[in-house]
Amino acid sequence: MKKAYEKLVNSAKAALKNAYSPYSKFKVGAAVLTGEGRIFTGANVENGSFGLTCCAERVAIYKAVSEGYGRIKAVAIVSSGKGFVTPCGACRQVIVEFNENADVVLVSRGGRTKTLKASGLLPKRFSFKK
Ligand code: THU
Repeated sequence: MKKAYEKLVNSAKAALKNAYSPYSKFKVGAAVLTGEGRIFTGANVENGSFGLTCCAERVAIYKAVSEGYGRIKAVAIVSSGKGFVTPCGACRQVIVEFNENADVVLVSRGGRTKTLKASGLLPKRFSFKK
């Protein structure tokens, strides 16, 4: 993993603690690095009417974009589960919306990392731009 992503990974780990997941009991933390070098964090927020649940990645990205930071360089994701958590399909579509070449840094609970490209996670994706 790039040294520049260390702070991003630590931010995702810290955000995990704020997960609101009383139903699944599965905590996810995410952190987004913007083109300007800013970091925005998110955690999954569940709801008793399950469909309203929002994933950690989308919380972090929507925070960044709604604060005026629409260029995403990298997203780090960590969960309370064993091994690596990969973003759900909906979150992949949201990540590529803001940068098809974003790095997606998967982080295990033990601290191991694996970096993937957003484009590789969503082949044949929908796009207005093509
Ligand atoms: N979840 C995320 O926050 N990110 C993902 O990439 C996958 C799933 C959350 C949603 C829900 O609160 C819990 O994990 C179980 O699906």
